[in-house]
Amino acid sequence: MTEDEQKQMAAAAAVEHIKDGMVVGLGTGSTAAKMVDLVGARVKDGLDIIAVPTSEATAEQARGLGIKVVGLDEVSVIDLTIDGTDEVDPQMRLIKGGGGAHLREKIVASLSDTMIVIAEAKKMVNKLGAFKLPVEVIPFAAGALLPKLEALGADVSIRQKDGTDFKTDENNLIIDCAFGEIDDPEEIALTLSLMPGVVEHGLFIDMADLVLIGTENGVKSFQKD
Ligand code: A5P
Repeated sequence: MTEDEQKQMAAAAAVEHIKDGMVVGLGTGSTAAKMVDLVGARVKDGLDIIAVPTSEATAEQARGLGIKVVGLDEVSVIDLTIDGTDEVDPQMRLIKGGGGAHLREKIVASLSDTMIVIAEAKKMVNKLGAFKLPVEVIPFAAGALLPKLEALGADVSIRQKDGTDFKTDENNLIIDCAFGEIDDPEEIALTLSLMPGVVEHGLFIDMADLVLIGTENGVKSFQKD
């Protein structure tokens, strides 16, 4: 089974949790895009929902599929958010932001009653950190933050795209931090959150309620105790 098929299985299982009348947060990335396609198909069949996208790319995809898209300020509650991840550990802690959308993703997830995470099997890790931790920073602070992030034990680089600095939807930069295995994700998360100039980091701790992983043997599901 291909990774794409595993992503598709996880996405399909997650979309079953969407019910009429819900406000649904739509994640970003290749797995989330499969989920958005499936939501679009259900909307065509009459599903009545309102969606809050986590990026301009997802907003455009959702609109194109006929999904009603609103901004955060137009809803009072988000019932359910479905999003992908770059890594997930046994405590359901995540590294996100490979697509550079983790700022809006974290805001939407934090305002959601339930967050469902969908991924292919290779995203499950015993320890977070093999994937470079994305840290969104304001451009003014980027140069000053590089040595500070390095001092935390990471190899750092400003994310590039098409030969130039990658800009997020909020016009910020991403510093990718290669920590290797992260022994204490909570400590790193807190340290990063307290750094002036850091807008948001890609550690999602205590946010996922349900993790659905597509595997060779079907969808494996992990739930918060
Ligand atoms: C977007 O910034 C990310 O958080 C994605 O959700 C995450 O990188 C997973 O992306 P894929 O589904 O493309 O692997």
